[in-house]
Amino acid sequence: MLVFATSDKGGTGRSVTSCNLAYQAALHGRNVCYLDFDFGSPTAGTIFNIDDVSQGTPHGGLHAYLRGLCEAPHRVNVWLDSEREAIRRRPDEAGELVLCPGDVGGGEFEGDPQVVSRCADLFLAQEAEFDLTFVDLSAGRSYATQIALQVLAMPALEPVAARWLVFHRWTRQHLLAADGLVNGERGLIKTGTSLGHDEQRLRDMIRFVRTAVVDPDSRSLAGLTAPQVAWLHECNDELHEMAGRLGAGRTGSIGRIPHDPVLQWREQILTNADTRTRKTANLATVRAFVDLTEKLTPEYSWVSL
Ligand SMILES: Nc1ncnc2c1ncn2[C@@H]1O[C@H](COP(=O)(O)OP(=O)(O)OP(=O)(O)O)[C@@H](O)[C@H]1O
Ligand SMILES: [Mg+2]
Repeated sequence: MLVFATSDKGGTGRSVTSCNLAYQAALHGRNVCYLDFDFGSPTAGTIFNIDDVSQGTPHGGLHAYLRGLCEAPHRVNVWLDSEREAIRRRPDEAGELVLCPGDVGGGEFEGDPQVVSRCADLFLAQEAEFDLTFVDLSAGRSYATQIALQVLAMPALEPVAARWLVFHRWTRQHLLAADGLVNGERGLIKTGTSLGHDEQRLRDMIRFVRTAVVDPDSRSLAGLTAPQVAWLHECNDELHEMAGRLGAGRTGSIGRIPHDPVLQWREQILTNADTRTRKTANLATVRAFVDLTEKLTPEYSWVSL
């Protein structure tokens, strides 16, 4: 399965959430690869704590591959190469966890027919080798998104299961932006159908994911006054109503990742060392990651919206 991670705004939690989903899926025995298609800012290496590729790779990354400058993109084995001991402790039952970084200093580039064809080869090879491939597409209407949509519209990709996760924070502006990315002018649906996608089939692949959501009843808000808590409830209700109206409500949304104190301060993988040993990250955050990965299997049916 190919999972495209996208968002309209930057800083939504798209990369941190996707890297944690990849890690959890691999921990649970699936063979997983993470393709950093955020061509303008390929920093997924930082999240996995792989210093050599923290801002992309100098050894022929995804940019170089797509532009025909190398035969295959550079791969990093996260289990071996992470600087974090807690990540290097790979359980026997875990699957592969591979990162393909972008190129250091690389930037956005348009998808000419060669790029699209190489990208199609890459996606098909990924599908043959891995259970799950995450493609981090950067924020907004990027060239990477256009290329991905173009490739997925090719007949050769038809049998491949694909999902689109649209990440957004739990605020009015983020909800509107996420809706615009899906339904607006030059959004996923308009662009996709103009490239030959069937509208309903494409819609069925798309779900929203709320990130860094603050629960108004959380114990961590104990210091707030009663009027402040009441106001948070009002905001939360208003957001639920708005999300429902925009198709990002109960059926359109497939995940809700709680606000986590560790992720607030650092872009990283949450391991047992964080939740059970040091007890700095919340178990509920990891449970939300696991819950979402369970929905990323071909067997889990995403009913029509
Ligand atoms: N559940 C969470 N709770 C608290 N903070 C979070 C959570 N998820 C992500 N963050 C933090 O939000 C910030 C933005 O996250 P991230 O870099 O993943 O977003 P992004 O959408 O990939 O951004 P960009 O568009 O810049 O690539 C980071 O500092 C990250 O650690
Ligand atoms: Mg990112």
